[in-house]
Amino acid sequence: MAGFEVGVSVLVPAAGQGERLGRGPKAFVRVGGRTLLDWTLRAFAWADEVWVALPPGAPEPAARANVRFVPGGSERQESVARLLERARGDVVLVHDAARPFVVPEVVDRLLATVVTAGAVVPVVPVPDTLIEPEDGRYGPALDRGRYTLVQTPQAFFREVLAEAHQLARSEGRTATDEAQLVQALGYPVELVPGDRRMFKVTYPEDLVLAEALARVWEERPL
Ligand code: CTP
Ligand code: MG
Repeated sequence: MAGFEVGVSVLVPAAGQGERLGRGPKAFVRVGGRTLLDWTLRAFAWADEVWVALPPGAPEPAARANVRFVPGGSERQESVARLLERARGDVVLVHDAARPFVVPEVVDRLLATVVTAGAVVPVVPVPDTLIEPEDGRYGPALDRGRYTLVQTPQAFFREVLAEAHQLARSEGRTATDEAQLVQALGYPVELVPGDRRMFKVTYPEDLVLAEALARVWEERPL
C-alpha cells in the first residue's frame, strides 16, 4: 500500500463449514470461476503476509508467494486466534473468506485510520426495518438510523488484538467479530464507511449476486 510503512498481516478465517449456504466448505465454493478464498487472496497480493485458517484436513490451495495456511478451529474466534499466533505485522487486517469482493477504497480508508487509531472497522447502513420480536410477534421497532451493519476487513494494531483475544479467552467470552473483543478491552474502535459489495456470502441466493459481481470484478484493476 503506497505510503504505508509498517508491515501488514492479513488474517483470513476460512475454516467454516458453510451450513447456512448448504454447500461447503464455503471458502472453496466457486463464483466466476474462482473459489471465494481465491478472490480474497488476489485482493491481498500486496500484503506482507497472508495467513489463512483452513478447515482441518482440507487440501491447501495453490501456492501464492505471500500466503501460508494453518488448520482452523471449531469456532471462528479460535480460527482467528490461531492466525494471530503466526502474524508478525504491526497491523493486522482480519477478513472473512466468505466476503469475496474486497473494495480497495475501503482498505485504503482502514489503513489510513488504523495507523493513528489502532482499531477500525467498515460499516454500512441497515436497509430494512429493524424490530425486536416479542414472543414471536411484532415487537418494538428500533430506529434503524441509529444502527449499522459491521463488515470485514477489520484493522488493528496486532498487539491490541492479541491482548483482546487473550482477555476473551481468559474470561471464556466469544464474539462474532474481532472489534467486540477489542471494545471489551475498553479500547475505542473507529468506524469508516464500508461498501455493500463486501457482503458476506451466507445463504444460497447470495451466490447469485456474487456471480453477477464476479463478472464486473474481473475487469477491475487490483
Ligand atoms: N470461520 C472459521 N472457522 C470457523 C467458523 C467460521 O474460520 N470455525 C470463518 C468462515 O470460513 C468465514 C468466516 O469465519 O470465512 C465467517 O463465518 P460464516 O460466514 O459464519 O461462515 P461459516 O461458519 O462457514 O457459515 P455457517 O455459519 O453458515 O456454517
Ligand atoms: Mg459461521
